[in-house]
Amino acid sequence: MEDVLQYAGKRVVVTGCASGMGAATAQILVDLGAEVIGLDVKPTDVAVSKFIQVDLKDPASVDAAVAEIGGPVNALFSIAGLPGPPFSDLDTVLVNFAGARNLIESLVPQMPEGSAVACVSSNAGLGWEPVIGDLLPIVQTPDFAAAKAFFEANPERIQGNGYAFSKQLVNAYVAWRAASLLPLGIRLNNTNPGPTQTAMMPQFEAASGKDLIDAFAGPSNRRSSAEEQAWPLVFLNSPRSSYVAGISVPIDAGFYGAMVTGQIDLSILGV
Ligand SMILES: NC(=O)c1ccc[n+]([C@@H]2O[C@H](COP(=O)([O-])OP(=O)(O)OC[C@H]3O[C@@H](n4cnc5c(N)ncnc54)[C@H](O)[C@@H]3O)[C@@H](O)[C@H]2O)c1
Repeated sequence: MEDVLQYAGKRVVVTGCASGMGAATAQILVDLGAEVIGLDVKPTDVAVSKFIQVDLKDPASVDAAVAEIGGPVNALFSIAGLPGPPFSDLDTVLVNFAGARNLIESLVPQMPEGSAVACVSSNAGLGWEPVIGDLLPIVQTPDFAAAKAFFEANPERIQGNGYAFSKQLVNAYVAWRAASLLPLGIRLNNTNPGPTQTAMMPQFEAASGKDLIDAFAGPSNRRSSAEEQAWPLVFLNSPRSSYVAGISVPIDAGFYGAMVTGQIDLSILGV
């Protein structure tokens, strides 16, 4: 069977295409014959059809990118992100949640029936379900400016916690928004990756310590490669996943299953 994942000739947008999971995803999509439009603050080495420099925490930059992308957009891979320190908590939530959401919502009118969005959240955002009542009012803010105003007015919500909070918000946004996108023929999902060896990893280790990162590796006792995160994203946004929507998929080599069945020492995780 040729073109199994049905990307040949499709127009796809990949954020974070300069590095790590985003670069790996963009490369796979180029290899599968898609027209790949890559977005990042930094230039990319991947041979995408079009590269657009964009700063997700700048709505004017996102507006310009959306105009340049045009339509149709058959698949959007929302992968770009900041790790928290050395970046501020505010910048981290603006890029990882408010900016990512702004791009998705701005591209929705250019996405035809049968299209899909896959976001990258994180295992750092686990535990979002019990606090969904706190997350929903932020997730449901109408636009980037309103989300930013909330974070500026409530700095205690993100202080020292911007990364994990941003990833809880992405999980909550996907769970909530998928229901209203589905009638438009657009599927929305996210992955929750475990520790992945990318440019971000030294910053995670500096902020949280290697022991904590290693605890999140779980039963596999190793870190993921960027490609091991990219392929599930490519599968999620393929028309082959047409009955998959509104779900957080753990891409963590058994960590989640081990955690919920009591096989992870949660004290190491500070839980
Ligand atoms: N590496 C891990 O262990 C890990 C684990 C779970 C989740 N994640 C998430 O995976 C995603 C990809 O990260 P990665 O590990 O490939 O790291 P990475 O640092 O290699 O890639 C992140 C990319 O995002 C881009 N970016 C940062 N700020 C931006 C902005 N304002 N506008 C546009 N682009 C911007 C960077 O330039 C970079 O190319 C992120 O959302 C990250 O939070 C990473």
